[in-house]
Amino acid sequence: MKTAARRLFRAVVLCTSLGANLAAVAHNDSAAKKMAEGTCAGCHGPMGNKPTVPGAPRLAGQQYEYLRQALAAYHNGSRQNPMMSAIAQPLTPNEIDDLAWYYSRQRGLSSKY
Ligand code: HEC
Repeated sequence: MKTAARRLFRAVVLCTSLGANLAAVAHNDSAAKKMAEGTCAGCHGPMGNKPTVPGAPRLAGQQYEYLRQALAAYHNGSRQNPMMSAIAQPLTPNEIDDLAWYYSRQRGLSSKY
């Protein structure tokens, strides 16, 4: 009896910590979409696919890790641009992650091969 209870306890602890880990890597798509289409689209176009400002690149379909690094660099000042530094400075690490995820999942840049 004692061991069964212990096993059950372990299973519950394991599930809880797994759940917490999954929540930590999950991306908040709707918040990112709202910010992307509300703020970023002004220069990068709808879904990051049609830049409207000279020098603004397409973001749609760019690698998640690349976008994350680029935003983090504007955020911490290691990459500077008058427009992007001002935009990225107030972003939280979670927002950077979610925005990078959002744009990496849009159809855009692609290769046939
Ligand atoms: C006022 C116009 C403007 C807005 C608004 C804007 N951007 Fe940008 N963005 C630019 C420009 C211009 C560049 C190119 C800057 C450079 O050369 O470093 C850029 C570059 C970037 C890059 C680097 C891409 C690459 O290929 O290296 C990322 C990522 C990015 N923007 C994401 C965002 C996100 C996410 C938002 C919304 C939170 C946003 N931008 C809002 C103008 C804007």
